[in-house]
Amino acid sequence: MMSPFTVAIDGPAAAGKGTISKAVAAHFDLAHLDTGLLYRAVGARMLTGEDPIAAAQSLVAEDLENPDLRTADVARAASKVAVIPEVRAALLDFQRAFARRSGGAVLDGRDIGTVICPQAEVKLFVTASAEVRAQRRLVELTERGFETDFNTVLADVKARDDRDMNRADAPLRPAEDAVLIDTSDLSIDAAVARAVSAVEAVRER
Ligand code: CDP
Ligand code: CDP
Repeated sequence: MMSPFTVAIDGPAAAGKGTISKAVAAHFDLAHLDTGLLYRAVGARMLTGEDPIAAAQSLVAEDLENPDLRTADVARAASKVAVIPEVRAALLDFQRAFARRSGGAVLDGRDIGTVICPQAEVKLFVTASAEVRAQRRLVELTERGFETDFNTVLADVKARDDRDMNRADAPLRPAEDAVLIDTSDLSIDAAVARAVSAVEAVRER
């Protein structure tokens, strides 16, 4: 695939977007951008006392390599800076340029199909119940050595869903032409297979 070809993957926390994105990118030899990392990087800089708008406007590649971006505190901070329109605006051009790079790209986030790439060739909306998502995140956090429990993680996931869905600027919602994939009862392989066939259906047109 040499010409720009964008796969937009949106959905709430721990729905399986990243897992599906990486697999789709590998299958079709596309570049992948986890746009949540941009907001996490801004959130991490806010937690050190920086103004989030200034942080977003001066974000550099090294910010995305910070190994501490995967904590629950940073996830919460990310969803707080993500409601600020100037933060979103500062991150827009980078995401759009990535999406239209020659060779094609997969971007995952909250507003890829609705705001960043409304012209994306393929749009997927990946969901799962809040309980399933909290359980998945609990396993990940526990494996990485964080001490937490199901109810704490569930409350965090629900608070983030609420902020992401109810903000005025670029709220989380499926694009009208998105293919919905509910991964609550799907294995990773089954979820990836659905995503791959949705991309193949468009490529064969
Ligand atoms: O990117 P997002 O936050 O949407 O989710 P993820 O990081 O891809 O997936 C969150 C966790 O759920 C990971 O540990 C995946 O291995 C797991 N997962 C799963 O158990 N079943 C799926 N169908 C998809 C993901
Ligand atoms: O991995 P997980 O799905 O838990 O979160 P993430 O994708 O890393 O996103 C962290 C936060 O960044 C989200 O809760 C959103 O508030 C924000 N975000 C956003 O507003 N727009 C995006 N395109 C991606 C993330």
